[in-house]
Amino acid sequence: MSLSESVRIAPADGKLGILIPGIGAVSTTFIAGVEAIKRGLGVPVGSLTQLATIRLGKRTDARTPMIKDFVPLAGLDDLVFGGWDIFEDTAYEAAVNAKVLDAALLEKVREPLQAIRPMKAVFDSSYIKRIDGPNVKEGGSKMDKAEMLMEDIANFQTSSGASRMVMIWCGSTEVFHRPSAVHATLRDFECGLMKNDPEISPSQIYAYAALKSGVPFANGAPNLTTDTPALLDLARERQIPLCGKDFKTGQTFMKTLLAPGFKARMLGMSGWFSTNILGNRDGEVLEDPGSFKSKEETKLSVLEQILQPHLYPELYKDLYHAVRINYYPPRGDSKEGWDNIDIFGWLGYPMQIKIDFLCRDSILAAPLVLDLVLFLDLAQRSGMKGIQEWLSFYFKAPMTAPGLYPEHDIFIQLMKLKNTLRWMRGEDLITHLGLEYYD
Ligand SMILES: NC(=O)c1ccc[n+]([C@@H]2O[C@H](COP(=O)([O-])OP(=O)(O)OC[C@H]3O[C@@H](n4cnc5c(N)ncnc54)[C@H](O)[C@@H]3O)[C@@H](O)[C@H]2O)c1
Repeated sequence: MSLSESVRIAPADGKLGILIPGIGAVSTTFIAGVEAIKRGLGVPVGSLTQLATIRLGKRTDARTPMIKDFVPLAGLDDLVFGGWDIFEDTAYEAAVNAKVLDAALLEKVREPLQAIRPMKAVFDSSYIKRIDGPNVKEGGSKMDKAEMLMEDIANFQTSSGASRMVMIWCGSTEVFHRPSAVHATLRDFECGLMKNDPEISPSQIYAYAALKSGVPFANGAPNLTTDTPALLDLARERQIPLCGKDFKTGQTFMKTLLAPGFKARMLGMSGWFSTNILGNRDGEVLEDPGSFKSKEETKLSVLEQILQPHLYPELYKDLYHAVRINYYPPRGDSKEGWDNIDIFGWLGYPMQIKIDFLCRDSILAAPLVLDLVLFLDLAQRSGMKGIQEWLSFYFKAPMTAPGLYPEHDIFIQLMKLKNTLRWMRGEDLITHLGLEYYD
């Protein structure tokens, strides 16, 4: 498929401000990592924007530039960071507490991390249980809090000298809740903010403040946040891109690698049992049943949507899928995820697969944060607005237009991502048909 015109993309001039609600394990591993990479102390392993190439034209053309040379992305030297947290710890102290990165490495990037002092958070203990902190905005309505956040955003832009900004939620997982009347339209939502409607969560107040300030928004957690007509309308009206939700890192990443493979071969599945132990603050918050329910929903939806039991009842209609997370402090951020998969083959003969993934949660998440902020900024400069489905690659529960089921197969997601970049630059899309090589 050939496209004659490329998209007009504004240049990535000046600094890009990265605004992060939640200065915890993921965000400090990301920021410390960027600072380390800038100093030549590490390699951005896991990041497409930094390491991946993109094939252009035919396989015989030998054109495979780096993605970062193909589309104009902000450079690591141009990133500046700010954020909010309910705790007063600087990003350096939060990174030390998170115990993800070695003390020796953190010492080398202490200065820039220490300069990041979290702004006062918008917090509501009915949405996040088991933790509480002193660094919070007090008094006023939810609308007043949204306005305070907008002021924080404007002040950050002035003090950091950022020419553009992106916000990414790396805060704790909020309890499960469904869209309600207050989320139906922007008007309802704004009335709800003024009346302190309990159905509006803190992450929605941050997202509202970002979108009102013209700042693209990504949601790294499974919270409802922007999955509501009100905030989607606001994004479209203001021409702002957004994406979510819940970073696809450990166990769900493995699921979206394996399940499409079983289905591709028409192998059946009777059960998939996943269990995790982790001991970081994320694990502690997820001990609360409400927050776990948010996580469970995004983790469970993946298999159903990949395997499509309504289309393949003989293979998947009786699938038993369960996900458990247990808080186990000794492991810290080094999670262990076990999967037992019961599959069956020819004539229904059963087989089993066991996976034991000793992973590092924040090490897997940090490069995703980097790619998301750079790609969202690119989307903004390319005039793209609303849900960015091409960034599904990074999420457990990709946001889609109403009525569309999400695409979870990671290789289809990657193809979609790269074809979107080709489309932006007016290059031929790659369909993998390849008949021309045999003419
Ligand atoms: N690490 C991964 O692989 C991964 C994968 C998918 C999703 N996530 C999600 O990313 C988020 C961050 O994970 P983490 O390991 O860094 O957790 P963390 O607990 O280390 O950090 C979260 C931080 O958010 C802060 N916070 C809570 N509510 C806030 C609010 N209203 N405003 C500002 N700050 C607030 C907490 O005080 C905490 O410091 C979690 O929701 C987690 O579920 C992580």
